[in-house]
Amino acid sequence: MKLTMNLAARSYDIILKRGCLANLYQFTDLTHRKVFVLTDSGVPARYAQAVADQCAQGTVYTVPQGEGSKSLKTYGAVLGAMLAFGLGRRDLLVAVGGGVVGDLGGFCAASYMRGIDFINCPTTTLSQIDSSIGGKTGLDLGDTKNIIGAFWQPRAVLIDPDTLATLPRRQFVNGLAEAVKAGLIADPALFELLEAGGADAEIETVIYRSLLVKKKIVEADERESGPRKALNFGHTIGHGIEAVKGVRGRRTNGLYHGECVALGMLPMIEDRKLQKRTRAVLRKLGLPVRTGVDKQKVLAQMQHDKKGGGSTITVIRVPGLGCWRADTVPMDALPALLGLDTGKE
Ligand SMILES: NC(=O)c1ccc[n+]([C@@H]2O[C@H](COP(=O)([O-])OP(=O)(O)OC[C@H]3O[C@@H](n4cnc5c(N)ncnc54)[C@H](O)[C@@H]3O)[C@@H](O)[C@H]2O)c1
Ligand SMILES: [Zn+2]
Repeated sequence: MKLTMNLAARSYDIILKRGCLANLYQFTDLTHRKVFVLTDSGVPARYAQAVADQCAQGTVYTVPQGEGSKSLKTYGAVLGAMLAFGLGRRDLLVAVGGGVVGDLGGFCAASYMRGIDFINCPTTTLSQIDSSIGGKTGLDLGDTKNIIGAFWQPRAVLIDPDTLATLPRRQFVNGLAEAVKAGLIADPALFELLEAGGADAEIETVIYRSLLVKKKIVEADERESGPRKALNFGHTIGHGIEAVKGVRGRRTNGLYHGECVALGMLPMIEDRKLQKRTRAVLRKLGLPVRTGVDKQKVLAQMQHDKKGGGSTITVIRVPGLGCWRADTVPMDALPALLGLDTGKE
């Protein structure tokens, strides 16, 4: 399957095909330029090697796995390795891994020599469903996520669902939260497919339909000045939960991004019946529906995290299946908004 992200001069193809990683050479020039393949230590090495093997002059660079690699330290190390490899303005960086490698690799490509070509080969459900398209790249600064970054569209995105075979089950399920999100805001059929238990057997359809939702939204608003905000559904509260209880730095036993988004979506669904259905879908997938996290802490984190300050916050609500609305609410309305389970039950 192929999708095209239509962004004028920055348009690119998104290839979704089993085994496509071994055929990257069909989609880009790997012969007449140097290729820097970035991966992390948790991604089976054979995926990055499969890309490097197709290059006339390729090298693989591996960063430590985990969110900690979206740091200035790792960023500096990668840029240093790119320079040492002699990568030039017309050369290519290929990211092979999950959202961490994609975000880091994309930002390295965006900033090295004021921007070089970038190809994303996502290998987690989260990155195949969501993060690999759209052009957001970035790093964290200490505990503040994605505060450094650039919009840098890839030249192509190659999604090989075969790579998901090695992904731990919890990571696989984690990414499906973004598919639930896509279904809720814009694709009732996708939501119903997940509701019917089709996530495993029909993973390619789930990825395809989720990407289609995101593609249309990004095409309408590449830089998030309007409708792209819809993709933040579940993320306002989700990021608050992630800051308090998410996997971060040395905290390796926390919640994953998709798990936090799952929890962040529930209070933002206005229709009671749909909320109940979503809860059932999340449960069926193996995603959490209760955090047990202290909502005061989440609240404090959301207030602290509000990038750029300001007395209001924009939240995305889903009034019914397949539609959404952006509401700007005062910061002091946040406690009521949270509606999070406090572990009392
Ligand atoms: N740019 C965007 O638009 C965007 C959107 C959503 C999330 N993100 C970012 O994505 C990141 C999370 O991405 P993620 O969930 O993919 O996490 P991740 O990149 O950390 O990958 C999860 C783990 O799986 C391992 N892994 C990756 N592929 C594997 C495979 N095929 N088999 C076995 N193990 C594999 C990795 O080594 C890692 O340990 C966060 O930093 C988040 O901020 C970015
Ligand atoms: Zn997300």
